Amino acid sequence: MTSTAPLLRIEGLRAAYGKIEALKGVDLSIQPGEIVALIGANGAGKSTLMMSIFGKPRAKAGRIVFDGVDITTMPTHLIARMSIAQSPEGRRIFPRMSVAENLQMGADAGTGSNEERAATLERVLTLFPRLRERFGQRGGTLSGGEQQMLAIGRALMSRPRLLLLDEPSLGLAPLITRQIFEAIRTLNRQDGLTVLIVEQNANHALKLAHRGYVLVNGLITMSGSGAELLAQPEVRAAYLEGGRKV
Ligand SMILES: Nc1ncnc2c1ncn2[C@@H]1O[C@H](COP(=O)(O)OP(=O)(O)O)[C@@H](O)[C@H]1O
Ligand SMILES: [Mg+2]
Repeated sequence: MTSTAPLLRIEGLRAAYGKIEALKGVDLSIQPGEIVALIGANGAGKSTLMMSIFGKPRAKAGRIVFDGVDITTMPTHLIARMSIAQSPEGRRIFPRMSVAENLQMGADAGTGSNEERAATLERVLTLFPRLRERFGQRGGTLSGGEQQMLAIGRALMSRPRLLLLDEPSLGLAPLITRQIFEAIRTLNRQDGLTVLIVEQNANHALKLAHRGYVLVNGLITMSGSGAELLAQPEVRAAYLEGGRKV
C-alpha cells in the first residue's frame, strides 16, 4: 500500500439517465502514475463513469475528487481545465479538419505556452509516427486505428495529468491495438502519465494496467492487480474465454 494521496478518488458515485440508474454507488481511486483499467460488459456503465467525471451526467450522489479538489458539481468547462483529458468512445475526431488542426484543438483545451505546445506536439508525433505522416490529411480520411491515435494525441495535447480512454481498442485490428497499448505504456513509464482505461477487451487492458476494477450493472464487483483479476475464474469466464461478453 502506498500513502500517496490519490490523483482521482470516486466515492459512492450514483448517476442516472432519467429513471435508468447507470451507476449505483461506485468507489474507485487512481494513484499518481498508475494505469487503472475498468472492465465490464456492454451496458455496465463504463462510459457513464468516465463521462460523469466531466459532469455529464451529473452525480446524483457521491463525490469525485481530483488532486484534492472536489469537482463533483464543478461546471464541465472548468473540469476540462483541471488537467483531465479524455479520448471518448467512438473517437469523435473532427473529420473535416486536418490532423494538425485536430491536434491544435486539443492544445487549445490546455493552458500550455507556445514552447510547451511545440514540445508536446513533437512528443505526440514521436509516439504516433503515423500522425506525422498524415499531418495535413483530413481526420475523416484516416483509418480507424489512425483516428484512435489522433483522438489520444488530441487529448495529450492539453498536457493532462490524468488521461481517460474509453474503449481505445474498439473495432481495431490486433496489430493496431498492440501499437496503441504500447504507446500508452510508454506514456506511463516515460512521462509518468496517469491513465484510466475503460475496455471490454479485458485481456489487453488488464495486462497493461497496474490495477483493475470490474463493473457489473453499475456496481464494482471486483478489484485487484491486473494479474490478480486475469487469474480470477469469474473474470476469465465472463470477459476472456469465449471472447467478449456483449
Ligand atoms: N444517453 C443515455 N440515455 C439513456 N440511457 C443511457 C444513455 N447512455 C447510456 N445509457 C444506459 O446506461 C447504462 C450504462 O451505459 P454505458 O455507460 O454506456 O455502458 P458501457 O459504457 O459500459 O457500455 C446502459 O443501460 C445504457 O443503456
Ligand atoms: Mg461505453
